[in-house]
Amino acid sequence: MKTIRRLWTRAFRGIYSAIAGNLYEPVIVKIAFPLFGRDLPGHVLAQGRKAVAAAAGGPILDLPVGTGYFTVHLARAHPGIVVGADIAWGMVERTRDAAEAAGVRTLAPLQADGFQLPFADEAFAAVVSSNGLQVMPHLSAGVKEMHRVTRPGGSVYIALPTIPFGALLPRFLSARLPTFFRSGRDVASEMSGAGFAIESCNRIRLAYLIEATRPA
Ligand SMILES: C[S@@+](CC[C@H](N)C(=O)[O-])C[C@H]1O[C@@H](n2cnc3c(N)ncnc32)[C@H](O)[C@@H]1O
Repeated sequence: MKTIRRLWTRAFRGIYSAIAGNLYEPVIVKIAFPLFGRDLPGHVLAQGRKAVAAAAGGPILDLPVGTGYFTVHLARAHPGIVVGADIAWGMVERTRDAAEAAGVRTLAPLQADGFQLPFADEAFAAVVSSNGLQVMPHLSAGVKEMHRVTRPGGSVYIALPTIPFGALLPRFLSARLPTFFRSGRDVASEMSGAGFAIESCNRIRLAYLIEATRPA
């Protein structure tokens, strides 16, 4: 399983670095996300505002940060530090440029793998993961790592486009595909298994919005 995870992760790192500078925002953010979840971008921004309120000035992690398209808004509204982590160096550079252009000094972009985050246990008061878990092929490992870095009492906000046809495939195959092919309810159930309390899991067309807390 680890080899397959490494292969997918390497592929995503290359693809996203390659499209970070030109295709990502015009095609993925502005066309693909609304196709999946209508006003999915608006919901991601709303989740960011909720994370700011829940964190109450404490550190927020945005994983994966992508080009920082949504994160810059969150960081502008947040009085504390926002760490934006992503495996693709091209994305990290774009986030740094976006933060600079917006004059946001509290957003710290960082190249990191969501499966092995370079943060202490319970480091973050809130975690935001918009349109990212679907490209993480070993969901349970990714969710466990997210749980590890969330403070007890902390909140997690997830937006997730999916095409859940994995349910039609044999388990050995579906378990090796990225989370994109699983349903938001599967994701919520993995999160419960990792120790999160699910506050809500709502579907909008083919996208899910999940809010959870790590019980204190
Ligand atoms: C669809 S983008 C979402 C980015 C951003 N949150 C947004 O909503 O625009 C998915 C991102 O996941 C990143 N990614 C893929 N695998 C990752 C991993 N293992 N760890 C961290 N980031 C990863 C990709 O580099 C890409 O930037």
